[in-house]
Amino acid sequence: MALNEQEIEKMRVVCRLAAQTLKFIEPYVQPGVTTNKLNQLVHDFTLDNGAVPAPLGYHGFPKSICTSVNHCVCHGVPDDTPLVSGDVINIDVTPQKDGFFGDTSAMFYVGEVSDAAKKITECAKEAMWKGIEAIAPFGTTGDIGFAIGKFVQKKGYSAVKEIGGHGIGKVFHSDPFVPSFGKKGRGERLKPWTCLTVEPMVNQNSDKIIEVAIKNSSIKYYETHDKSYSAQFEHTVLITEDSYEVLTLCD
Ligand code: MF3
Ligand code: CO
Ligand code: CO
Repeated sequence: MALNEQEIEKMRVVCRLAAQTLKFIEPYVQPGVTTNKLNQLVHDFTLDNGAVPAPLGYHGFPKSICTSVNHCVCHGVPDDTPLVSGDVINIDVTPQKDGFFGDTSAMFYVGEVSDAAKKITECAKEAMWKGIEAIAPFGTTGDIGFAIGKFVQKKGYSAVKEIGGHGIGKVFHSDPFVPSFGKKGRGERLKPWTCLTVEPMVNQNSDKIIEVAIKNSSIKYYETHDKSYSAQFEHTVLITEDSYEVLTLCD
């Protein structure tokens, strides 16, 4: 459903807050910090800014953010394990404010990380931008998936198929599914004044992933099958009349 001007403004506000949240947490991502500590910091920051952390209690998810470390593909659950130098971590935040959701994630380096970890992280970031740049009103989700998949393959990595981006706005997750693979012109049509996320997950080796249950939740978390690195970035994007606007940015 197309959003009206007031609704679009609310999306801009909550998405800017989501971006500011990642900026806020960045200096805390250091060797020795636990992901539970990062969770608590983001939780408080979100409330202090008049929003609520949407992941908390979402289908039973127990925490306010997702923290996916090294071989965790996505939906990692914060715990009391301290990060160590060499870890790479995706932090995924989704504040809800005034009835709207803003969803963004980024990778962070903990201390000194390997060139292999840096390379796959750079690939995931660039893949996300390739997907975003493929967005056009009345284009399709296949255009986005094609751009991501082609780029990731060219770099010698693989893009996860089972999980991807989604519509977002008054609900956290809606249609369309935004794949990281596909063919130009296939999939669902992109409608002006709707929002979606672009969030490719890039694996070092095969795209095969292992699903792991989360206690008391219907949300699963995922790992690479061989414990090799996986990396991901995410933005929420508004499709406009003649282009798109990346909403989860701040200065
Ligand atoms: N923010 C995640 C996404 O990008 C969803 C997390 S759902 C949760 O879609 F329950 F795991 F938090
Ligand atoms: Co998302
Ligand atoms: Co997210």
